[in-house]
Amino acid sequence: MNDPWLPQQAVVMEKVMETPDVATLSLKLADTAAHQRFRFDCGQFNMLYLFGLGEVPISIMDLRQGLVQHTIRAVGRISRKLVALEPGANLGLRGPFGNSWPIEEARGRDLVFITAGLGCAPVIAAIRRVIAARPDYRRLVIMQGVKHREDLLWQEQYERWREVPDCQVLLAASEEKQAPFAWSLGMVTTLIDKARFDVNNCTVMMCGPEPMIRASMHGLEAVGVGLENCFVSLERNMQCAVGLCGHCQMGTPFICREGPIFRVPDIRQWFLLEGY
Ligand SMILES: Cc1cc2nc3c(=O)[nH]c(=O)nc-3n(C[C@H](O)[C@H](O)[C@H](O)COP(=O)(O)OP(=O)(O)OC[C@H]3O[C@@H](n4cnc5c(N)ncnc54)[C@H](O)[C@@H]3O)c2cc1C
Ligand code: FES
Repeated sequence: MNDPWLPQQAVVMEKVMETPDVATLSLKLADTAAHQRFRFDCGQFNMLYLFGLGEVPISIMDLRQGLVQHTIRAVGRISRKLVALEPGANLGLRGPFGNSWPIEEARGRDLVFITAGLGCAPVIAAIRRVIAARPDYRRLVIMQGVKHREDLLWQEQYERWREVPDCQVLLAASEEKQAPFAWSLGMVTTLIDKARFDVNNCTVMMCGPEPMIRASMHGLEAVGVGLENCFVSLERNMQCAVGLCGHCQMGTPFICREGPIFRVPDIRQWFLLEGY
């Protein structure tokens, strides 16, 4: 990585509006050598900087055709402006930061992904890498929850994953009255009972709204999964991204420095406390 404090100039090469408030931006670093050097581990994030406005942490969705992809929901001051960028626009990029999903350590095990809303973005690259090395893993279960059917990003991608050997794709819509064919009604956590995996030999990776993560912890424990085998990616307001400002602190850990991915028992005591 270049100087972690110094945003590098990046250019929006492509933009896809996934839904009216979610865009995927494909970025190229203006410095060709830096662009060619850019690598990331699945689960890491970049700080995206809009000149004169500020920076926000955004997960790296993937590196495709040489471009760094970010999928962004417009929720506030900076993310709205990011989603409004058009191809050709300039922005700053620092990164990649943070640790990664434990996909290497999980070889030989069943893998379970539980995500809701835009929580799917930080696991897409991990799922793709696991599928590319399919024989190294056992069963694969991908669970994703949305409010409405049309909120599901990358619907074709999920359909293709259904075709992967020993891969179970479970989708849930919490605010539909009638479930689309092959979907369930309710929160993503209702899918845990339908998932087929070895509770004694699995690694679980979760990302999404915090109430969903808490409910997933309870659901997983209820079916016998040890939380030491469960990992969660957490989100907090970030400023420096290098463990100095304290904005992202949760109890002892700084999410930018020790995270954003944590083994559940390492974060549970703070995660379950109100106000943290
Ligand atoms: C490691 C990490 C990875 C992330 N990856 C992504 C990603 O891939 N795509 C993406 O769209 N977002 C991602 N986020 C969240 C993103 O950073 C925030 O949405 C963004 O910082 C909001 O800034 P803003 O200036 O647009 O909103 P602000 O003006 O700061 O806030 C506006 C509103 O948004 C709410 N808000 C602020 N932060 C969050 C948050 N983290 N989650 C939900 N609501 C929030 C506030 O409560 C407020 O109501 C990630 C965050 C972290 C820490
Ligand atoms: S963002 Fe500054 S310490 Fe994490």
